Amino acid sequence: MDLKSEQPIANERISNGSSNEVVTHKKSGGKIKRHCRRFWWLDLIILAIIVLVVVLPLIFVAIPKKAQHDLNASTLEVTSQEVTSPAPDGIHLKLVTTARSGSKFHPTIEAFRAGLSLEGKEPFLYIDVPETKANAETQIVVEQDLKFASLGQFVDYNKVVMGSEEFDVSMNGKTKLKLSGLRAMSVDYNKKITMKGLNKLNGLNITDLKVLSGAGVVLDDGSNLIGNLTIPNPSVMTLDLGNVTMNLAVDGKSIGTTLIPNLILVPGTNHVPMQSTVNQLAIISLIKSKYTNGVLPLDIVGNSSVSGDQHLTYYEAAIQSNTIRIDLNVGPALAAVNITV
Ligand SMILES: *[C@@H]1O[C@H](CO)[C@@H](O)[C@H](O)[C@H]1NC(C)=O
Ligand SMILES: *[C@@H]1O[C@H](CO)[C@@H](O)[C@H](O)[C@H]1NC(C)=O
Ligand SMILES: *[C@@H]1O[C@H](CO)[C@@H](O)[C@H](O)[C@H]1NC(C)=O
Ligand SMILES: *[C@@H]1O[C@H](CO)[C@@H](O)[C@H](O)[C@H]1NC(C)=O
Ligand SMILES: *[C@@H]1O[C@H](CO)[C@@H](O)[C@H](O)[C@H]1NC(C)=O
Repeated sequence: MDLKSEQPIANERISNGSSNEVVTHKKSGGKIKRHCRRFWWLDLIILAIIVLVVVLPLIFVAIPKKAQHDLNASTLEVTSQEVTSPAPDGIHLKLVTTARSGSKFHPTIEAFRAGLSLEGKEPFLYIDVPETKANAETQIVVEQDLKFASLGQFVDYNKVVMGSEEFDVSMNGKTKLKLSGLRAMSVDYNKKITMKGLNKLNGLNITDLKVLSGAGVVLDDGSNLIGNLTIPNPSVMTLDLGNVTMNLAVDGKSIGTTLIPNLILVPGTNHVPMQSTVNQLAIISLIKSKYTNGVLPLDIVGNSSVSGDQHLTYYEAAIQSNTIRIDLNVGPALAAVNITV
């Protein structure tokens, strides 16, 4: 809207209140031209009103609304989430997300701080999202050492991760969008991200079971039953759970504990060794009396998760809240040490 180019010639200085502009005006014959000269100030006011009514709402209302709308419509997918260096009060997080947008606008989203929370709850972590140029598909990587915003919320979050096939995480923050030529626009960044959880560790299995009996065979820590664990992890999460111990029970009675040393769950199927300290006599008597086919209905429930000498209470709460039942055939392992059932 350049006033000079629309109404050239003649020199009259006017001041239009908000800004001082030099406006030129046509000097010529004819009624219309005379009208123009007499009412040049009216034209100017009309023009100013058009600018105010059309352009300003466009800049200050329509475009920001459209920008917010398009941001709302965009989706965020977590493609990888690595939680490592677990400590009692924090973790190291590497979060890789893909933002998808069908918008014609490709603004730059200013770096901002976002809270991660379960829906309707207080955040368990705040992450620093780097400045991002929004394209149709944009990868955003956040990698940082983080202290928990709330340990209680992080405990609840981990229970949900453990117990759910799928769950939602809310990501909320305030940021600014920059489009070339326009001033930065404030927007709310509120995303609901649906993720796969550990689904109660369904499908966990024990293989390669070996009974260790006799001096020199039992491990230093007293472990007298070893084997391998198959742990499916349907999520995109890598979780460093430290040294994990689990309680083993049959019919509600403890038969021992098992250690899974340095358990780092990765996405997909995990094969990890385990070493158990069990009451072998109790197992043999269960098989001689009740489970004569050698198959024990074994209940496995989390006991501890320890890194260094520190308990990871948030993982402990999650694994303690989860009981896994498997039918464990101990017949072959007992037969291997000449105990026939
Ligand atoms: C964007 O989403 C929020 C809810 O997160 C809603 O309150 C707001 O009205 C939406 N804005 C637009 C422009 O769609
Ligand atoms: C668990 O492992 C045992 C021993 O390898 C195998 O026989 C059994 O089929 C497995 N169970 C499942 C549910 O995969
Ligand atoms: C567990 O699996 C690994 C790799 O497949 C194997 O080397 C190891 O011997 C297994 N453990 C037992 C107790 O058989
Ligand atoms: C963990 O195991 C120890 C030793 O077996 C036991 O005393 C303790 O009660 C267990 N804790 C939980 C939470 O199961
Ligand atoms: C697990 O325990 C072993 C033996 O005590 C120790 O060497 C190892 O560092 C522990 N791992 C972690 C992650 O703390």
